[in-house]
Amino acid sequence: MNRRMPLIAGNWKMHKTGSQAVEAAHELKSRIASAQNVEVMVAPTFTALFQVAQILKGSNIAVGGQNLHWEHQGAYTGEISAEMLTDAGCSHVIIGHSERRQYFGETDETVNKKIKAALNSHLIPFFCIGESESERESGNTFSVLDKQVRDGLNGFTFDGQANLVVAYEPVWAIGTGKTASREQAQEAHQFIRGLLENLFGKAFASAVRILYGGSVKPDNVKALMEMPDVDGALVGGASLDPETFSKLVFLITNCSNFKDDNPCQSF
Ligand code: PGA
Repeated sequence: MNRRMPLIAGNWKMHKTGSQAVEAAHELKSRIASAQNVEVMVAPTFTALFQVAQILKGSNIAVGGQNLHWEHQGAYTGEISAEMLTDAGCSHVIIGHSERRQYFGETDETVNKKIKAALNSHLIPFFCIGESESERESGNTFSVLDKQVRDGLNGFTFDGQANLVVAYEPVWAIGTGKTASREQAQEAHQFIRGLLENLFGKAFASAVRILYGGSVKPDNVKALMEMPDVDGALVGGASLDPETFSKLVFLITNCSNFKDDNPCQSF
């Protein structure tokens, strides 16, 4: 069985001023300095990226943007390019978050362009997908995920490196306190991995990390991580407090890296 390095990302959304982000970055850096066998990423707001990246340089925490525009530069007021993110110290970028899709008109087509732009600039995209509550209730979860994956990754080719991360985030679980059950998460992750295998081959499907996102907290992360296709978490609210987020980091470290022969250790 393939062993995938667990990955946890904190999406700070539109929270924290520059000085608050700097404070959180310092605290997180010292709290998780000893964490091993886990990859960690935080995504501050654009205005805090450079400062946070300077603090986290050389640490075990990577920095990512929360969005990008697919063009290199130009008359696109309010937008930011992949090169600008890289220049600010980012190695990752969140793309297609449901809040972007819901409130800012992002579509599978724009998500696709953004993923290509990120990959062209050697930024690792966190490709977010997930069904709404009504889509789940009407039995359309898998068809929604199928379309999001096919359209979002249209034209993608696997070059031997799984330099893309998928985040399954059921919209009804984001910021609501309602987490998907571990069975619901596993079922969706397994479906996504199967689809990725059909589209891009077994090597890619078994190497790609699929994160769960939606009200992940210290008291539910272990159950989720015990599922074979859950490789980590994309965390919103619980990533804002460095103490809580570092707890999650250590919980994940203890869980999933050798999930084929070593179930979660107790924390
Ligand atoms: P939440 O957000 O953890 O606050 O539910 C998750 C996300 O939006 O990625």
